Amino acid sequence: MTVVSPGFPRVRPRRLRGSQAIRDLVAEARLEPSAFMLPIFVREGITEPEPAPGLEGHKRYPPDSNHLIEFMQNAMDLGVKSFLLFGVPRVKDEVGSRAYASDGPVQVALRTIRRELGWEPLVATDLCICGYASHGHCGIPRKGRRGVYIDNDATLEVYRKIAVSQAEAGADVIAPSGMMDGQVAAIRDALDREGFSDVAIMAYSAKYASRFYGPFRTVMDSAPRFGDRRSYQMDPRRRLEALREVHHDLMEGADIVMVKPALAYLDVISLVKENFPDVPLAAYNVSGEYAMVKLMAREGFAQESELMMEVLTAIKRAGADIIITYHAVDAARLIKEGFNPF
Ligand code: PBG
Repeated sequence: MTVVSPGFPRVRPRRLRGSQAIRDLVAEARLEPSAFMLPIFVREGITEPEPAPGLEGHKRYPPDSNHLIEFMQNAMDLGVKSFLLFGVPRVKDEVGSRAYASDGPVQVALRTIRRELGWEPLVATDLCICGYASHGHCGIPRKGRRGVYIDNDATLEVYRKIAVSQAEAGADVIAPSGMMDGQVAAIRDALDREGFSDVAIMAYSAKYASRFYGPFRTVMDSAPRFGDRRSYQMDPRRRLEALREVHHDLMEGADIVMVKPALAYLDVISLVKENFPDVPLAAYNVSGEYAMVKLMAREGFAQESELMMEVLTAIKRAGADIIITYHAVDAARLIKEGFNPF
């Protein structure tokens, strides 16, 4: 409750803003590199890292390369210990079979990582078929009575196979991002049956049909070849539905839940944290949000480091425990150097 000051200013919030030390003392949200998760792209069939188009400063790595290991080691030296792996296959087909091939890009990368870095890094794997499927959808298309639709339950069978192959290759955490109903239950069941009850699930629970995924889809070559994702990803106009999605994912066995994107959905992050305070909550600061920061900086409208820290702090302040971000390495370096724009 606010105390009304009588006549003259007795209440002076400015007292707590007057010096660096006092601002730092009363800060509520603080960033730590250990709470960042860094997305990494690996691509089949290349021998040298190549720039990730649209994701300035990021690369697609050969899955079995030293470059990948050096990149991860550098991040770990700065305190970033968690990674989210995405694979780009050489060939795509109807069901995205390279997503569950034992020599698929993510599986090869996982084995390389475990051989070179052991189990020190936490490696999560994105589980979806959009980047692996010829049609670019997150599920299997079928002809139905109202035209082509994405077949939920047929897709779950494919997701089971992907989960098991990723676990076999060395994933710590499986992160299903396709927004099929029942995907967490299906994956949990498949993992448990195959003896991977120790593999955790980070569910993309409240994932919206967003225009902020543009650069990512270029990097992954995963844009839908027909139609769009509105029949499975959430409608940006809905807020409370996020609670339903999170609730069901938890009932199905999710260990960590996620809101995605982050910046335009801070209200959803806050809502989920308030309703499920005991559940680790991740927020995905997506490719388009990253690109906006880069563009602002390039135009001279803001200093990149300051803007980045403001964005990440806002996501933290809203209630995210974990921030998945392309800024992870840069932000960790700034934090290590004691950079503080507040
Ligand atoms: C889809 C997937 C998407 C992202 C990660 N996995 C979005 C989409 O194409 O619908 C987006 C990540 C980003 O924009 O950074 N399986």
